[in-house]
Amino acid sequence: MSILAMGAHLLAERFVRSGVPRCPEERAVMDDPAQNLAYQQAGEGGGILAPVHLYHAIHIASIAPPGARFLDLACGPGSQLLAILRLRPDLRCTALDASPEMLARARATFAAAGIDPPVLVQGDMTNLGGLADAGFEAAACTMSFHHLPDHFALESAMKALRRVLAADGAAYLADFGRMRRAATQEYFSRDRESEQGPGFTRDFRASLAAAFRYEELAQAFALLGPRLRVHKTGFAPFLVVGRTRDEAPGDPRLAQGIRRALANLRPVQREDFRILVRWFRIGGLALPDVAADADRDP
Ligand SMILES: C[S@@+](CC[C@H](N)C(=O)[O-])C[C@H]1O[C@@H](n2cnc3c(N)ncnc32)[C@H](O)[C@@H]1O
Repeated sequence: MSILAMGAHLLAERFVRSGVPRCPEERAVMDDPAQNLAYQQAGEGGGILAPVHLYHAIHIASIAPPGARFLDLACGPGSQLLAILRLRPDLRCTALDASPEMLARARATFAAAGIDPPVLVQGDMTNLGGLADAGFEAAACTMSFHHLPDHFALESAMKALRRVLAADGAAYLADFGRMRRAATQEYFSRDRESEQGPGFTRDFRASLAAAFRYEELAQAFALLGPRLRVHKTGFAPFLVVGRTRDEAPGDPRLAQGIRRALANLRPVQREDFRILVRWFRIGGLALPDVAADADRDP
């Protein structure tokens, strides 16, 4: 990633008033095996998504209460959940996705890792039918809201999540915010092209075009109640995070797990992780204390 090129695009974003319109995902539910395979491979150990998964996993692992019943909304191939469970094996997990094809991949992800699979549920995040009221002490939804057709569906998803989350439950929500310029979207979708392969590039481009605006995400996230805080990457909301609570005091086992996960990143992944940490820090979201020095060299 060239910091200069990235900085130029982020600066240019500030001079655009009304950005490009949203272009919803052609395949809201990811049921195309070739597309899903590309996404799955990107999330595996050596893949382009591994640093992003680790970043979210650190935040989620540090807010979920011990032994919590944890819901992963729109789990996809399960690689994000695997990163979380590696840090927090005590969580009792349910993973939901609308796509049976993705759920089969999630099952395989856990089998390959030698970890008992979570409860896998085929369902729609906009209603969460079949899940009990207040049945979870913690929940997360990462990189999936842009798959929803419109902001009404986004609000429905928030209301459904509020229903299934315990009153003081921990929630962590993350997704792309829509960049205003098509050129910025194109830049980010291709920035790691040599690392990610053409299938993932196509998927990435479609995701950035389908992203909701920061304001739409913030307004919908607020439906989870007054404890929710919204954060974004510095200079422009390329990524947006909503959290209902700050981290709990650090646990030495968690610190150890984070160090192990960082040590497994390849140099290019380590670099992406570091950029993400610093980019969010500029926007006001620091890593929890338990991982405070995670963006330094080992
Ligand atoms: C880009 S993947 C993200 C997967 C995972 N959360 C991650 O961070 O890697 C988006 C997932 O959302 C799922 N999805 C789309 N619409 C959905 C809906 N209404 N309810 C549940 N899952 C949905 C898709 O099938 C896909 O698996």
